[in-house]
This record gives sequence, C-alpha cells and structure tokens, in this order.
Amino acid sequence: LSSPLIAPSVLSADFSRMADEVAAVEKAGADWLHLDVMDGHFVPNLSMGTQLVSALRPHSRLPFDVHLMVAPVDSYIAAFAKAGADHIHIHVEAGPHTHRSLQHVRDHGVKAGLAICPATPPEAVEEVLDLVDMILVMTVNPGFGGQKFLTSQLRKIRTLREMADATGRDIRIGVDGGITPETATLATQAGADVLIAGTSVYGQEDYARAINALRTGGAS
Ligand code: DX5
Ligand code: ZN
Repeated sequence: LSSPLIAPSVLSADFSRMADEVAAVEKAGADWLHLDVMDGHFVPNLSMGTQLVSALRPHSRLPFDVHLMVAPVDSYIAAFAKAGADHIHIHVEAGPHTHRSLQHVRDHGVKAGLAICPATPPEAVEEVLDLVDMILVMTVNPGFGGQKFLTSQLRKIRTLREMADATGRDIRIGVDGGITPETATLATQAGADVLIAGTSVYGQEDYARAINALRTGGAS
C-alpha cells in the first residue's frame, strides 16, 4: 500500500496560538489541514466559522480540508469557499438534497467531499458518487475530538472502497475520528487513503514524529 495522506485536525490544537499551530504541522510534514465546523445543531458542539478559516489562510500553503457538520448547509458553502477552503465536506445526513449541495460545492471550484456518520449505511452515497471527489467515513460520532475509533466502521470502509473503485474515477476515502498509528493501519488496509487526526497529532509533543507514526502505521 502506498502511504496515506495525513490531515491534522486543528480542533485539538491550541486555539490561542492557532497561526503557529497551523505553521507547525506544515513544517512537520502534514499533507492537508482539516478544519471542523460545528453548528450546535447537527452535532452537539460549536467550534469555528469562516472567520478563523480566512484568518488562517495566509499562514499556510496546505490545502484546507473543511468538514461542515452543519444542517442545513447550503447557505454556508459559498462563504467557506471564499474563506479559502480547497475541499468542502458536507454530511449525507445534513438534509434531503445532498445532490444539490454537492453541485453547489463544485460550482465554487472546490473539491467535494461527502461525510457519512457511523449509523448510516454505505448505500446512502451511491446515487451521488459521480459528484464526489472524496468520501469521509466518520469512525466516531461527530462532535468531539478524542473519542475511540469504532472498528464497526471498517466493513463500511471496505464497501465504499469497492464502490469508489467501480466508478473508474479516482475517489479518495478519508477516515475521521480516533485515528492512531494502530487504527490508521486498520483503516488503510480497509481502503482509506486519507487519515484525519486531531489528538494523535496535536496531543503529541513532537508533531513530525506523530505524523510520521501515522503515515508509516498507515502504510504497514
Ligand atoms: C470530530 C471531528 C474530527 C476530530 C477528530 O467530529 O470531525 O475531525 O477533530 O479528532 P480525533 O482525531 O481526536 O478523534
Ligand atoms: Zn472532521
């Protein structure tokens, strides 16, 4: 297996020093930066909005991977694209019109990701696969960092990898929640090629070492 992309989640960073925290993971070898947006409605927590995304944009050259845990989501897509998102993930559970929402994302020239919660079956994404560049498999219930990886989701990762490959297009599969060097290995063996990690990067002393441990754990 080739080595997966690593996207540290700033949800676990020191918010009082965010520009430095973002620069530090870029220097430490991160591939993307993951930004979690929570609305206190779709998920039971609040995190950040467009202001932080646009404020951080000049401090990093990494692609910004923005995960919108927001419902309804459509009216925010343009604002996050303008703030500097390179990829926008919306949730398949966020409303009945996922097809239209994904089109909105693409209309802004941003790569479209579709996030899927632990309780949702893989078939939920089937009819919109032609509109997605990436599927984000939640391996925890979204809303908080530091939760335990749900091994029950490995079967879904395998199914989605088969579905994605069957399209003949290059669709990435990301995993988000409870990623450690050990669970990274399980996830990549099941077919994931992007690893989102909050605690396992920002909760560690040495970010370069933490990112490398995820990458090599994930590649083994
Ligand atoms: C959870 C977020 C994750 C979170 C992951 O709702 O989507 O991106 O930051 O945190 P860890 O890696 O600590 O599970
Ligand atoms: Zn996330």
